[in-house]
Amino acid sequence: MSANISELKEELTSLISAANDLDTLEAARVQALGKKGRITGLMKTLGGMDPEERKTTGQALNVLKDEIAALIEGQERALKKQEMEQRLASETLDVSLSPRPETKGKIHPISQTMEELQSIFASMGFSLAEGPDIEDDWHNFTALNFPPGHPAREMHDTFYLPDDPDEQGEAAKKLLRTHTSTVQIRAMQEQGVPIKIIVMGRTYRSDYDITHTPMFHQCEGLIIDKDIHMGHLKGCLMDFVRAYFEVEDLPIQFRPSYFPFTEPSAEMDIGCSRKGGGLKIGHGDDWLEILGCGMVHPNVIKNCGFDPDEYQGFAFGMGVERIAMLKYGIPDLRTFFESDNRWLSHYGFDPLDRPNRATG
Ligand code: DAH
Repeated sequence: MSANISELKEELTSLISAANDLDTLEAARVQALGKKGRITGLMKTLGGMDPEERKTTGQALNVLKDEIAALIEGQERALKKQEMEQRLASETLDVSLSPRPETKGKIHPISQTMEELQSIFASMGFSLAEGPDIEDDWHNFTALNFPPGHPAREMHDTFYLPDDPDEQGEAAKKLLRTHTSTVQIRAMQEQGVPIKIIVMGRTYRSDYDITHTPMFHQCEGLIIDKDIHMGHLKGCLMDFVRAYFEVEDLPIQFRPSYFPFTEPSAEMDIGCSRKGGGLKIGHGDDWLEILGCGMVHPNVIKNCGFDPDEYQGFAFGMGVERIAMLKYGIPDLRTFFESDNRWLSHYGFDPLDRPNRATG
């Protein structure tokens, strides 16, 4: 009998260790320890043995049963571990942070330039004011000392809106603002004086060629206080162009000009050179017109309800596209508004790496 038992042990052991999946192992378990299994079958023969043989065989079979059960358990653990390792290897999930995708969007040169302007003027103590794109005749012209029928109105190529039957009269006539100077009036009326503001926004004129588009942007400045004079205007605008063009000793000059809302009025030029075909801003033999400016006309101050004998100030206005073109070498104004992605990826600014980034 003991020879039988050790043969059976060998047989079952190799059966169990050959089982390489849980189903085969279960079949081996049934074959060894199941109700009709080999060991169970031998157990059933114990009854026909004499007491001595039954005792030794019974003990040997119990040992075999425990050994086989332990082997099965060990094999089951090994197979489950193997199965888990296979699943872990095949069902991998990468929880590490993926790298930032390359940024494709670019900041438009208009946005970039307006941010630069804001940051320079904010550092000089100007605050930002806003006004509507749809204006009325009074804010766009009359309050700014363009009386009805004044020839300067003709120069603005105004887009008028259809007449509003509820609002009668010349002053209420609706239009798309032709300049941001309208906000001088609104801001003085809303905030009072003294005041120190810049305005940035869209303006509209019916004109289209290499230097004109029907919609463009302006930046306007206004200071009203007691004892403001032309020296303040000159110092402020000189500091501004030097900061904006990043040329410390940039030469400037003022030429007499005419705007209805300033007296005296001037145009400011900055130095440049055109030697070698390119345009270089700085000391040179030529000048570039940059902006219009002047001392606010007493009528404008009066129209806003203040006494021009007590308050004076200066104002200036410039085209945002024009100064962006000069700083960043963009040759054609119309391309700003063509929404051409190739243009934007060439002239646009990386959102994470921008020059003169506004800090305020
Ligand atoms: N509004 C003028 C224009 O559109 C620009 C301008 C000139 C604004 C002189 C001003 C200024 O405030 O003082 O052409």
